[in-house]
Amino acid sequence: MTAWTLAYESFDPVTEGLREALCTLGNGYFASRGAAPESEADGVHYPGTYAAGCFDRLDSTVAGRTVGNEDIVNLPNWLPLTFATPATTWFHPGTADLLDYRQELDLRQGVLHRTFRFRDEHGRITAVRQRRLVSMADPHLAALETVFTAENWSGPLRVRSALDGRVGNRGVRRYRDLNGAHLTGHATGARDGITWLTAKTRTSEITVALAARVETSPARSRIDARSTWIAEHHMLDLHQGQETTFTKIVALTTSRDHAIADAPSAAIRAIRRAPGFGELLDRHRMAWAGLWHRARLDVNGPQVARVVHLHVFHLLQTLSPHTADLDAGVPARGLHGEAYRGHIFWDELFVLPWLTLRFPEVTRGLLRYRWRRLPEARAAACAAGFTGAMFPWQSGSDGTEQTQTLHLNPVSGHWLPDHSHLQRHVGLAIAYNVWHYHAATGDIEFLAEAGAELLVEIARFFASLAALEPASGRYEIRGVMGPDEYHEGYPGALSPGLDNNAYTNVMTVWLLLRAREALDLLPEREREELALRLALTGPELQRWEDITRQMRVDFHDGVISQFTGYADLLELDWQCYRGVRRLDRALEAEGDSPDRYRASKQADVLMLFYLLTADELGQILERLGYPAAPDLIPRTIQHYLKRTCHGSTLSAVVHAWVLARSDRARSWRFFTEALACDIDDVQGGTTAEGVHLGAMAGTLDLVQRCYLGLETSPGEVRLNPQLPARLTTLALPIRIHGACLSIGVGRDGVRVSRADDGPEHLSITVYGRRAELGRGAEHFFARQEQERDALVPAR
Ligand code: BGC
Repeated sequence: MTAWTLAYESFDPVTEGLREALCTLGNGYFASRGAAPESEADGVHYPGTYAAGCFDRLDSTVAGRTVGNEDIVNLPNWLPLTFATPATTWFHPGTADLLDYRQELDLRQGVLHRTFRFRDEHGRITAVRQRRLVSMADPHLAALETVFTAENWSGPLRVRSALDGRVGNRGVRRYRDLNGAHLTGHATGARDGITWLTAKTRTSEITVALAARVETSPARSRIDARSTWIAEHHMLDLHQGQETTFTKIVALTTSRDHAIADAPSAAIRAIRRAPGFGELLDRHRMAWAGLWHRARLDVNGPQVARVVHLHVFHLLQTLSPHTADLDAGVPARGLHGEAYRGHIFWDELFVLPWLTLRFPEVTRGLLRYRWRRLPEARAAACAAGFTGAMFPWQSGSDGTEQTQTLHLNPVSGHWLPDHSHLQRHVGLAIAYNVWHYHAATGDIEFLAEAGAELLVEIARFFASLAALEPASGRYEIRGVMGPDEYHEGYPGALSPGLDNNAYTNVMTVWLLLRAREALDLLPEREREELALRLALTGPELQRWEDITRQMRVDFHDGVISQFTGYADLLELDWQCYRGVRRLDRALEAEGDSPDRYRASKQADVLMLFYLLTADELGQILERLGYPAAPDLIPRTIQHYLKRTCHGSTLSAVVHAWVLARSDRARSWRFFTEALACDIDDVQGGTTAEGVHLGAMAGTLDLVQRCYLGLETSPGEVRLNPQLPARLTTLALPIRIHGACLSIGVGRDGVRVSRADDGPEHLSITVYGRRAELGRGAEHFFARQEQERDALVPAR
C-alpha cells in the first residue's frame, strides 16, 4: 500500500459494499461502483452506475400514505462479465475456490486493478487479471480489460459479457419499501460487433443508452438478447501458461447530453469511434495527470497523504471539469451510492471552497445549477408567504423541495414525520459560496450575470423571514431549523421549527451586508439594470440595513445560544449514550426526543466560527449591539463541544477547524476523524451507500484554507500558516484572481512562486508581511522567531 493506492488483499463479503463505494470509478459525468463484474445486486454486491443530474420521481405507499420521492437513478449495468471453465457453472467470487484475491485502486491514474486465482472442481487453476477505467478523457467511455491465464490446463473458456437493464434503486436497505423501479421501455440489439441497450426513466423520461464493443481473439460469439438484457457469449482457447485478453469497451449516453441527436445513436457512434484499451488508458492517464497537476495537495506522512489523495480522487470523480456544463449540483453522497437519493443539500458549503481555488470553472458551473433554479426558489418563497428565493433543503432535478416528508427510524421501525425542510440555511451556504467564489476569482462577469442576482434574491428571502418583534425590539426569524438536525422544534410544541437559530440570524446579517457590497462591486450599468429587473428599492435596502443592526441573537452563560429557549433544555445523561452518534434514533426508540436536550447532532452555533473570522463575527455582534466578551468564542466552543455527538461526518471537519488555532492537538484528532470518515466507515455502514463528499472535501479545505491560514479578497492573498504538529510540510498550487500560485510551507518559512499569467501585480501577505508578486516571480517569507510556535508540538 502506498500513498497512491487503496488495496484489499482478500475477498470479504462483509465489507464488499464499503469497498465498492471506495473503489468507485467516475469522471464527473457518470460513475460506477467498484463492484465485481461477475455479480448482480445480491445483498453482498451492489453494482450501481449513476449519471450526474439524472433523476426520476416515483410515488410509493408507506405507513398508509402515498409519498413521492425523487432518486438519482441507478442506470443499466455496463459491467457484467463472467466466465466458466469446461463443464462448470459461471464464476462467482462468493462461491469460487479462491486461491488468492487482490483489488487495488490506483488513485493517481484512476484505474481499478483486480487479480485473483481460482481452482475449479476439476482442479484447473486459472489466473485472472483485470483493469477497469471510467474515462476521464472521454466522459462517455468506460472499459474493462480481463487477462486469463490457465495455469495447469489448456482448453476452452466460456466468457459472457452483458449489458443489464434489470436494475432498480435497491442500494439502501431502509428505502426498500419505496418504489425503486425507475427504468422502463427497455430495448436491446446487436449490429456490426456492437451490442446496445436502451431504457427510459419512468417520469423524467430520460433515455439512457449503453453500447458495448468486445475485443478478443478468436472472436467467436453468440448473442443472447432479451428486452432488458443482452449478452455476448464467447469461447476463448486458453493454452497453459499463455495470456488471453478479453476487452470490453462501453459508451454511456443519456438524452440530457449536449450536441446529440438521440442517446442511442450517440452511444453507438461513440463506441464505434472509441480506441482500443491501450489508447483509452493512455488518454485517461493523461487526463488524470492534468487534474492532479491542479489538484496536488502534498502533506508529509504516507497515511495522511493516502487519505488526502483518496478524498481528492473521489471529489474529482464526482465533480470534474466534465461536470461544469452539465447543469448538475453537488450530490451529498457523490455518485457512489443511493443514500439521500443523490440529493443536493448544503454540503456544497464544504465542497466549493476547495474547488474554487483549484477548478474555478467547476465551481462556476455548480453555482449555475443553483442560479438556473432561481425561478423555482422564488416560487417556493412566494408560496410560503415570503419574497426572494427560498432554496430547498434537498434539491434534485428541477430545484423543487425534495426533502422526504416521512423517514424510517431503523432502530424502532417507525415511519416518522420529517421536518428537515425547515433548514432554510441552505440558501446561506449558496450565498457564502457565491461571495467566496468572487473573492477568490474576481470574476465580475459571473457576478453580473448570476452571482449578484443570487445574493440579492437570497438576501431578500432572509430579510423577509425576519420580522420586527415589538416585545424584543429586534428582528427575529421564527420557525426554522439550524444545521443541528436533532432539534426540530420545541418540546411538546404543536408545530415544528425553532426561533432565532443563531447561525441563521448571524449569517443573515452577514449576507445582507455582502449582498449590498456585491451590488456596489458591479459596474454602474449592470447595477442599475439588476436593481430595475429585481425591483430593488431604497426602502427595501433600508430595511436590510435595519436588520443588520437589530437582528436578535440569544446568549446564555456567556455563550451564544443555539436558539431562543435553548437554555431551558435539559442536560442529557451522556454516560448512557456514550459513543451513540444517532441519538435521534436511539431516543425516539425509547419514546423520547433529542428536542428536549442540550444535545446536538453536529456543529450549529460553531458553524459561525467556521465560516467567519473572529474579526468578522466580532464586527457583526458589535453592529448588533452585542459586544463580544473576549472569551465568547472559546467558551462557546467548549459549551457545544461537550454536547455534540457528531452524528454527521461534517461535524468533525467543523470542530477541527474551530480548534485549529486554540487547541491544535484536539483539532488534529478531529481532522484525523474526518479523514477516517469513509475509509474506515466511521458512521457504521453508511459509506457503502455513498461517500460523504462534504466531509471528504472539508478535510482538503481544512488543510488548504484553515491550516494554511489562507484568506482572499480581490487583488490580495493572505497566508498565516499554522500547521498542526504532525504536519511539518505542505505544498499546493492554487488559482487566485487568475494567477497560478505554488505555495510551499516548511520549517523555515513559506515560499510562494507565481506562474507567468494572471494580473500584473498580486499582493501576498504572509505572517503579516506583504510582498508584491509579479508574473513569474517567487518570494520566500522566512519564519521569524515569534512565528516559531507554529511548529512547536501541541500539548
Ligand atoms: C447532515 C446534514 C447533511 C446531510 C447530507 C445529514 O446527516 O446532518 O447536515 O447536509 O447529512 O450530507
